Amino acid sequence: MSLRKKLIAGNWKMNKTSPDALTLSKEIVAELGKVIDVEIVVCPPFTSIETVGKVVDGSSVKLGAQNMHPEASGAYTGEVSAPMLRALFATHVILGHSERRAYFGETDAFINKKVLAAIKNQLKPILCVGETLAERESGSTLKVVQTQLEGGLVGVSKDDAASVVIAYEPVWAIGTGKVATTEQAQEVHAFIRSLLAKIFGDAIAQKVRILYGGSMKPSNAPELLAQKDIDGGLIGGAALETRSFVDLVNAAIAAK
Ligand code: 13P
Repeated sequence: MSLRKKLIAGNWKMNKTSPDALTLSKEIVAELGKVIDVEIVVCPPFTSIETVGKVVDGSSVKLGAQNMHPEASGAYTGEVSAPMLRALFATHVILGHSERRAYFGETDAFINKKVLAAIKNQLKPILCVGETLAERESGSTLKVVQTQLEGGLVGVSKDDAASVVIAYEPVWAIGTGKVATTEQAQEVHAFIRSLLAKIFGDAIAQKVRILYGGSMKPSNAPELLAQKDIDGGLIGGAALETRSFVDLVNAAIAAK
């Protein structure tokens, strides 16, 4: 049994209108609202954060956002800040997702500012790292992951480090149905934990949850979640349906 509580986070991406988010979150709370053995986070789009926040209030399901701007306020049209998310009772925020890196040009330096702003505002960052297929095929997976991890965590204190969650999401496995093998995933997770130990010391590295993301579903979750350094999942497609999300949480309970 691991020291670390398993965490299953649903990244709804740009899916679900507010009414649809209301339905999905109500179903999730009805099925999982009393689960305490596994930490559960749902991350709807900004437009339904408030709605979903009201549904999960009073349950064990937590609320996360998918992104935020590093500044607290100001002339940043279209952006949302950490204090705005906190005011809606979000507790987590996904930062540096590969889709934001690829489609919105987010750099490690910019993601790092967001990580620090999240921590300053008592939001737990879920910092995403992961290589593309070309990077894996050229043998640079670990180097890419190291650069993203170290770049994202600059200036994070030892005291704050244990509250950070890392998500390893190989880009080639996201939404493709191609899941990393358990060996591929465990190798990178163990590498991430060794880097965390170098930066923050082993005691803290043992506390940080490292999630796997990329075509995780109820059928492949048990094997992934049984790995020593895989502490949960950041789920895309399978988080959009109540049944598969519940089954994933159950797999995490069984793997605890
Ligand atoms: P899929 O589970 O749809 O592959 O998405 C993974 C992901 O990107 C979660 O952030």
